[in-house]
Amino acid sequence: MGYNTEDFKAKPCIGILNTWSEMNNCHTHFRDRAEEVKRGVWQAGGFPIEIPVMSLSESFMKPTSMYYRNLLALEVEETLRCYPLDGTVLMGGCDKTVPALVMGATSANIPSIFLPSGPMLKGCWKGETLGSGTDMWKYWAERQAGNLCEDGWNELEDSIARSPGHCMTMGTASTMTAVVEALGLCLPGSTSIPAVHSTHARMASACGRRIVDLAWDKVSPRELLTEESFHNAIVTDMALGGSTNAIVHLIAMAGRAGIKLSLDQFDEISQQLGVIANIRPCGEYVMEDFYDAGGILALLSQVKDHLNLDCPTVSGESLGKNIEGAEVFNDDVIRPLSRSLSKAGGTFVLRGNLAPDGCVIKPTAADEKLLHHSGPAAVFSDYGDLKERIHDESLALTADHIIVLQNAGPIGAPGIPEWGMLPIPNYLLKQGIRDMVRISDARMSGTSYGACVLHIAPESAIGGPLALVRDGDQIELNVTERRLHMDVSEEELAKRKAEWKPRPARHQRGYGKLYADEITQAPEGCDFKFLHQGEDSPEPDIF
Ligand code: FES
Repeated sequence: MGYNTEDFKAKPCIGILNTWSEMNNCHTHFRDRAEEVKRGVWQAGGFPIEIPVMSLSESFMKPTSMYYRNLLALEVEETLRCYPLDGTVLMGGCDKTVPALVMGATSANIPSIFLPSGPMLKGCWKGETLGSGTDMWKYWAERQAGNLCEDGWNELEDSIARSPGHCMTMGTASTMTAVVEALGLCLPGSTSIPAVHSTHARMASACGRRIVDLAWDKVSPRELLTEESFHNAIVTDMALGGSTNAIVHLIAMAGRAGIKLSLDQFDEISQQLGVIANIRPCGEYVMEDFYDAGGILALLSQVKDHLNLDCPTVSGESLGKNIEGAEVFNDDVIRPLSRSLSKAGGTFVLRGNLAPDGCVIKPTAADEKLLHHSGPAAVFSDYGDLKERIHDESLALTADHIIVLQNAGPIGAPGIPEWGMLPIPNYLLKQGIRDMVRISDARMSGTSYGACVLHIAPESAIGGPLALVRDGDQIELNVTERRLHMDVSEEELAKRKAEWKPRPARHQRGYGKLYADEITQAPEGCDFKFLHQGEDSPEPDIF
């Protein structure tokens, strides 16, 4: 490899896990960043080794990047275990790369620091700011309603993502990188820096320098990931108005640290503070504005009374010390709690005879008048059925109907894809309707919006009550009372359950079979059962 013995002798060996790929538009700057990390590692007296790992590209993976989150987590864990490494820099940002890298490093438990890809620049089209995902969904509805032509749509596509970096709305990537910082795994303020800002390159070198110290001091992720730091992560998620996906990922990440988070903890914390990040899809601005307004440290300083400030972080200082002196430079972007965007936090947990194990909704991203709504069910048995029939005018759906999608959960789809913002029929879009109650066992992109009830558990593919809903059943959504109920008698539900049959297994071999055999439901984080933290795996033998 061209190194002298002196280059690596008695130096901590730092593995730089790089999720760069030409298939992942969010990480196209990672080749440069890896070099900048190496510079920092050399400067601090370490020995850097770059190691490519699987890249989970949100835009291009079939059936969904979530299907492969656990595969990347497994690859990371075993990569860190099998090579002679003393520490690692985890390079990620695009949605599922973030929890996957943290899950794997937590299980391997070697000193780790997370290097966030940073958000891309804001989009701009005809003088109007565009937010990735959020404005694509918005204008797609206009296109379907006949208000935007093909050329306009193509122009918009060219204008919405104009630099490397992850989605710059408060989607899953912005949410997850921020909560990983709140957990203590990132350098202070690093998760808000735009991907192409020169500070981002400097931050990468600083990660390289810092991981060498962490390796000498043997500071491992499970020392930092505690019940208190996960509390901080949930507070951050709620104050951000974060992606509903954060719940699934945080439960899975905590599980790797041997900590059990329940859906009720998220709901309890959501009642204690409102959303203060005025970022799309709940708000008005995008992540570049958030950075200029003071970024994550400024936001954390606004909610510091809700945080465990003594939690240690990779900076070597406590979270409280990291946010000392943080200032808000634009209090319309980062609001004080007294002027929050909503009275409560970003995500609520519902239960009822349709979701005995729970489901979630993001009220701040929904039409308020739908948060208490009853209507007849219009049921689609799977995504193919939905695509085929949703725009069929003979179904004669109205704005009062509740659209129900079955078989879109972890096993049913498989992979619990982001199908939960179910399409509104084109003929209703043309009438000006832009939101309806929609329920499913799928997830929804953090950049999406609407009165969408998600992650219904147990899922329909394993015989959960969602599988028993039929066209015309009356369903009630009552967000204030945290209730999702179908008005069908117990006797009738028992009769339907007796008639219900599971679909044949989709995969007989390979990753699909492993996935179906091992995946857990959304309230358990959709991790594989055999990857939950139990006994540590033994060190590999050396021959
Ligand atoms: Fe990568 Fe949105 S496509 S974060």
